[in-house]
Amino acid sequence: CHRPTIRYRPIQPSDLEILEKIHADVFPIRYESEFFQNVVNERDIVSWAAVDCSRPNDNNNELIGFVTARIVLAKESEVGLLRFKEGTTMVPQAPAAQIGDLLRYDPSRPDQTLVYILTLGVVEAYRNRGIATSLIREVIKYAASISTCRAVYLHVISYNIAAIHLYKKMSFKCIRRLQGFYLINGQHYDSYLFVYYVNGG
Ligand code: ACO
Repeated sequence: CHRPTIRYRPIQPSDLEILEKIHADVFPIRYESEFFQNVVNERDIVSWAAVDCSRPNDNNNELIGFVTARIVLAKESEVGLLRFKEGTTMVPQAPAAQIGDLLRYDPSRPDQTLVYILTLGVVEAYRNRGIATSLIREVIKYAASISTCRAVYLHVISYNIAAIHLYKKMSFKCIRRLQGFYLINGQHYDSYLFVYYVNGG
């Protein structure tokens, strides 16, 4: 029986193809190729990959999971805004409140930042082994290491029970339900906004 040894490392340009493939496999939404280029070239995006070192040589550096995130200014971040989730069609029907407001944004500190998780995924054969948990821990550690950072946040589609359980288990707080946030194949779906406070948030 195959015993995986999971290692975490940054995503590299050579991961481009597999990164695109896993996104296509696990998400109902197509992301633009520009998004993947930005990830592998670390353009405004931070990311972590999970690989299984116990696989045979050809595959022991191949992605089996990933998380991608972006640093945003708290005063500019909005609860539902197109530009923070590339490739998705979003219809923010409620007025887009500022995430900063929800985080008790302090106007005397305009440099406050947040880390927004764009995508998280683990290939099916490697699920339920704590890999997504470890990837999110990396993001939280990174966010906590930035002194201006107040929180990590993300959106999740309302029917994604596995992901919702995962975020709740990791003590993310669900602070909003956004009606019709996603538009997929002509159908609207709600999203939940989850937040994890860091540095006294
Ligand atoms: N049903 C219910 N809860 C689940 C399930 C499931 N099938 N899978 C994971 N969880 C929850 C549980 O709370 C679990 O803790 P437990 O085992 O103690 O019950 C917890 O998640 C930890 O699970 P991990 O093993 O760390 O998660 P995994 O590595 O399996 O990855 C993920 C979870 C990322 C949601 C995976 O199922 C996946 O890739 N799904 C498809 C893509 C996706 O939905 N990504 C998240 C979208 S939101 C976003 O990208 C911002």
